[in-house]
Amino acid sequence: MRPVKIFDSTLRDAEQIPGAALNPEQKMEIARQLARLKVDIIEAGFPASSPGDLQAVSAIAKRIEGVTIAGLARSVKRDIEAAWEAVRYAALARIHVFIGTSDLHVQGILRKTRPEALRMAVESVSLARELCEDVEFSPMDATRTEYDYLCEVVERTIEAGATTLNIPDTVGYAIPSAFGRLIRKLIHDVRGAREVTISVHCHNDLGLATANSLAAVLNGAGQVECCVNGLGERAGNASLEEVVMAIRTRRDTFDADTRIETREIVRTSRMVSALMGMPVQPNKAIVGANAFAHSSGIHQDGIIKNRSTFEVIKPEEVGLSEHRFVLTARSGRNALRHRLEELGYEIDDIEPIYERFIQVADRKKEVLDADLEAMMGDRLRAIPETYHLEAMEALSTTTETPRAKVRVAVGGQTCEAETTGDGPIDALFRAIKQCVGVSIRLVDYQVRSVTSGTEAMGEVTVRVTSGAHTVNATATATDVVEASARAFVNAANLLAARQTAQEACGEDDAEA
Ligand code: KIV
Ligand code: ZN
Repeated sequence: MRPVKIFDSTLRDAEQIPGAALNPEQKMEIARQLARLKVDIIEAGFPASSPGDLQAVSAIAKRIEGVTIAGLARSVKRDIEAAWEAVRYAALARIHVFIGTSDLHVQGILRKTRPEALRMAVESVSLARELCEDVEFSPMDATRTEYDYLCEVVERTIEAGATTLNIPDTVGYAIPSAFGRLIRKLIHDVRGAREVTISVHCHNDLGLATANSLAAVLNGAGQVECCVNGLGERAGNASLEEVVMAIRTRRDTFDADTRIETREIVRTSRMVSALMGMPVQPNKAIVGANAFAHSSGIHQDGIIKNRSTFEVIKPEEVGLSEHRFVLTARSGRNALRHRLEELGYEIDDIEPIYERFIQVADRKKEVLDADLEAMMGDRLRAIPETYHLEAMEALSTTTETPRAKVRVAVGGQTCEAETTGDGPIDALFRAIKQCVGVSIRLVDYQVRSVTSGTEAMGEVTVRVTSGAHTVNATATATDVVEASARAFVNAANLLAARQTAQEACGEDDAEA
């Protein structure tokens, strides 16, 4: 079997999604989980984009073992040095250098000529190679780059020392048959291409990212770049779980495999969704809530007789176990710690977690894995509390105008506000806004039930903007109105933290 490397860009390409930014602890938690999932390369960030990102990548490089840690860099000295500064402590470190190579990018964005862009690419790869043995180069927008120029760029950057050549379909323009042919032809035409790893990085603008990545594997690609839950810029990147499970399930066709520990897939998906505040659509392949749910009578009958009749993957293969582990208010700290560790969390101090667990267990009869994951998501999302929701009340009847009342601690002061609205949530958010005192616009509001049943915990995710900032915030509670208020206050806290960080280190706005 030919090995195919999995390069995960959740902490870089997906982290660029408006509102999905992570703090350093959240990045570390996801990096730990990606290591358990056994991805080959974690692209941990874009160190030149901000001092905070450089520090977060550096912390990951120092602590996460058994996997290559990559940092992204534009083809400029400052970025390459920042990337090296961030990844240098990793046992396996990689610098990932890129530059746009289509005329649209070379002339329209870089304002350069093709020979100038080529020189920048070659010089950057040479500099990166002086610092690091493992260097990846990406000619951005490769699928809209004139073929002969693309070959020249690939050949010259291989000569300059790139060890992985990544072919990005940056705008999701390719279709599988043509993309597969492009990869095959490049491997055939470019001197040195057989001696390096050929990688692909496909975006999903036409819904073809997974199909294009798989076509590339069939035509010789040895690395696929992807993100958990298919997250990433715009319509996202190729979905890690789809690429991995397609190759695993159809090894007969690919004659290739990855080293992914597939039983960690669902856990990884849930963690990324919770920490980025990006819910997974129910019909999403492999990790959606309905991916293994059979509703038609004929299908149910078939599944009972033989699961293969309507399932090509066993749910256990991706980490969905039949076995439900149930904790109750009578479960002790040891049982809670044990289960959380089995779910992949590192627990230093069980006490605050146990307190929250007891609050939930008192309201629900059984606390399931999904409840524990939601609780842990709340903890990992914890941010400095500029605003603290002390109390809330909301009224919704068929006869009166909905009303809400809140008490919010702000600094040493307490603010109380009472307002009406179109509904109880609208009234609540208006009241919170009065206490927060800055203009916040709600862009998206989603509520989902963490488990089934009327006593289930509700998870609310809000996306809000304020000035140039967009943040996603999530909160869970057995009462969805309370969860809504907490999510909105969390969003206000995130905005305040973002503002403080920006003032403290004057972040620049480099983007890939
Ligand atoms: O989509 C893209 O081209 C990228 C590059 C930086 C690889 O994300
Ligand atoms: Zn990308």
